[in-house]
Amino acid sequence: MTRKVTKAIFPVAGMGTRFLPATKSVPKEIMTLVDRPLVQYAIDEARAAGIKEFIFVTSRGKSALEDYFDHNLVLEQDLRSKGKDELLEILNATNMESGAIAYIRQHKALGLGHAVWCARRLIGDEPFAVMLPDDVIAADKPCLQQMVEAYEETGGNMVAAMEVPNEKTSSYGILDTGNNVGTVVRAKGMVEKPNPEDAPSNLAVIGRYILGPSVLYNLNQMKAGSGGEIQLTDAIAEDITNGVPVFGYKFDGQRFDCGSKAGFLQATVSFALARDDLRDDLSRYLHDIVTSDRAAQ
Ligand code: G1P
Repeated sequence: MTRKVTKAIFPVAGMGTRFLPATKSVPKEIMTLVDRPLVQYAIDEARAAGIKEFIFVTSRGKSALEDYFDHNLVLEQDLRSKGKDELLEILNATNMESGAIAYIRQHKALGLGHAVWCARRLIGDEPFAVMLPDDVIAADKPCLQQMVEAYEETGGNMVAAMEVPNEKTSSYGILDTGNNVGTVVRAKGMVEKPNPEDAPSNLAVIGRYILGPSVLYNLNQMKAGSGGEIQLTDAIAEDITNGVPVFGYKFDGQRFDCGSKAGFLQATVSFALARDDLRDDLSRYLHDIVTSDRAAQ
């Protein structure tokens, strides 16, 4: 029997330099996809998977993120007195239970592994999820929920996995898989951002993980890896060496890389087209500009 996964770590300490100047004063995670901050998509996915405790690893300049999760009593009161029940409902859906969120500061940008390690005392001795909000995944059944269901069968560690073009392996953690058939693939190894000629496969890790506490112990060694950073991938790979299984889970859904401008725009269009209130106008507009080649000047 595996233990229930009820805690999730959200590493959000990054400076978001790819989105400057916007990120000069707005945390990247608060930037909106249609009308919801990026981070709300990750929170909703975590909730659907049964997560009850949300641990944010933040850094200087991220206080707007903390404010976002506070109840806005003045706004709520105002909407209530004006009878704007629909808006009130939208607002309430983002409210978090008191004590469900914790914030930890990562004092130095030493890598994803280090960010996760910063939350070790709040995790203790139980399995936990890690969610990278930059990876937004549109799916009928939310990705982390798919993984939790699979994890209940397998135990060990599990990472979301997706095949990427060979020339893109240097942007991802890559799994070494003997047998790449089926939805759940047992990894023989894992390597962070290998060049295509060194990559053991093209099965990439996407930002959803279910990990055991042993990964946190591995991180205690603070070994620097790819790019001189303390890599989560290396700590998970060490578990494989120690005989703890690691599974790649080929999720059902579409992943958007919202850490890049192109991915963010694609997600914006795709999520807007999925909305009843926006679909018709937007698709007409897109059709017009594509057919008349009339991009905004
Ligand atoms: C991180 C991980 C990498 C993973 C990727 C998924 O890299 O280190 O293993 O494949 O997220 O998005 P980053 O994109 O933060 O450089």
